Amino acid sequence: MKKINIGDIELNVRQDGQGPPLLFVHGFPLDHTMWNQQIDEFSKDYNVIAPDLRGFGANALGSDTVSMAKLADDLATMLNELQVTRPVVFCGLSMGGYVGWQFWDRHSDRLDKLILCDTRAAADSTETAEARRETATQVLSKGAGELIESMLPRLFAKTTETKAPALIHATRRVMESTEVRTIAATLLAMAERPNYEPRLAEISVSTLLVCGEHDLITPAKEMEQIAAAIPGAQFVEIVGAGHMAPLEQPVAVNRAIREFLERQV
Ligand code: MLT
Repeated sequence: MKKINIGDIELNVRQDGQGPPLLFVHGFPLDHTMWNQQIDEFSKDYNVIAPDLRGFGANALGSDTVSMAKLADDLATMLNELQVTRPVVFCGLSMGGYVGWQFWDRHSDRLDKLILCDTRAAADSTETAEARRETATQVLSKGAGELIESMLPRLFAKTTETKAPALIHATRRVMESTEVRTIAATLLAMAERPNYEPRLAEISVSTLLVCGEHDLITPAKEMEQIAAAIPGAQFVEIVGAGHMAPLEQPVAVNRAIREFLERQV
């Protein structure tokens, strides 16, 4: 892991391989290790960059408030510090996708292609945003145990639970090691994130959308609709996966990513 100074804090970043830059951005409340199987595959011929976002992994949170825009700006600063000048392929899962819309919006000169896994373009409904704010307060006073117990079963397909329990244990460990201050601040940031649905038709970079067939958090149907709204975008449903498709079905996800990258080159 490299430590990259981005101004107020340092980001821990895993960087492996040589070739065009391919940036992997994790979901909530996780870290870069969710991409281990993509890092192994794509570092053969890409410059793979997999950071932990502000507050996640071993990173400090810095200021008390964050936003999806700030997380995207952090990534642009990190790329400057890594001297990556070539536009990147941005691949984000769920919250990483929310950061992806911001990266497209704010740093389009740095973006070559977009890959969005198990995410949504819409903002939270009023009820969901309110529930996130309540959870943020609860997490600060009582810890993240309840959030983790309610979230974990919704992340994985039933078959993953039976065939690959080690993946779920590893994910639980990452969630449990994330600081409550980060969890609370990021819940508030997700509740405030803007709605990108009205902007989808403006996206002119090549875009791939990937979603687990059994995703309960960001359903495949909704991602198919996002794909239909982005000119020329492709949608791939990952059989046998839930919300954590890249972790649950890495072979199928890596194939979809590779076919997309090679078709578009
Ligand atoms: C994630 O996986 O990043 C979260 O489920 C996103 C969310 O809570 O909206």
